[in-house]
Amino acid sequence: LGHTIIFSERMDSTQKKALELADDGAEEGTLVVTNEQVAGRGRLGHHWQSTRGTNISMSLILRPRLPIEKTPQLTLLTAVAVADAIEEVSGLYCRIKWPNDILYENAKLVGILTELQAESSFVKAVIIGIGINGNTSPESFSGELAGKASSLRAITGDHYDLSHLIQVFLKRFETLYDRYLDKGFLAIKPLWVRRAASLGKKIKVRQPGGHVLSGKAIGINDDGVLLLEKEQGEITRVYSADIEWN
Ligand code: BTN
Repeated sequence: LGHTIIFSERMDSTQKKALELADDGAEEGTLVVTNEQVAGRGRLGHHWQSTRGTNISMSLILRPRLPIEKTPQLTLLTAVAVADAIEEVSGLYCRIKWPNDILYENAKLVGILTELQAESSFVKAVIIGIGINGNTSPESFSGELAGKASSLRAITGDHYDLSHLIQVFLKRFETLYDRYLDKGFLAIKPLWVRRAASLGKKIKVRQPGGHVLSGKAIGINDDGVLLLEKEQGEITRVYSADIEWN
């Protein structure tokens, strides 16, 4: 993976570029990276802000032969690979907020956005977009963002070699991806659960249509779907949402 790297100093969105390249037949493992993203996209239609040269904005093109309902598993796998890479380069032990935000003590360091191109019920391409707040200055996280978002540098005070972090991530991702293609999600699930920040907590689930559910996050199933236990004890599956807790 990452044998073909498309780099440009500035891009609207690596995700948009990678979707176009995938449409044009880009091969598995193609990585799109930029130093400055001016129209970064987040999950559920949110905007993703990146400051020039201080964070990682990248999108990876994959072409697994999988039915489309399995793609959320790749998002969970990616979160594990990023958290492992961060631990390797910085020593920070991060947790994952379902499905795939990476947190350090409740502050978000990484956002992941997975998008799909399908052919009937099978995957044609999966585009995994990853934004990592690496060297973003501590002042960028004042005011409204204080305590909600942070960067590796803001936490440790150190400056990181972001291309090295990308390499460490790709290596870890490749190991987990091979394991996943060979053995399935059950080989990855324990690694995700070990880093899960939300399991066992009372959470609020805001679904894409704006519908809000509350309950206890009791686990993820073998497909990577979040299991929410409502007050009446009924268990609901959550496929896509933003979750929060106190
Ligand atoms: C989220 O937390 O909402 C997901 C954020 C994903 C941001 C990354 S940065 C690289 C890639 N390109 C984009 O436009 N978005 C993703």
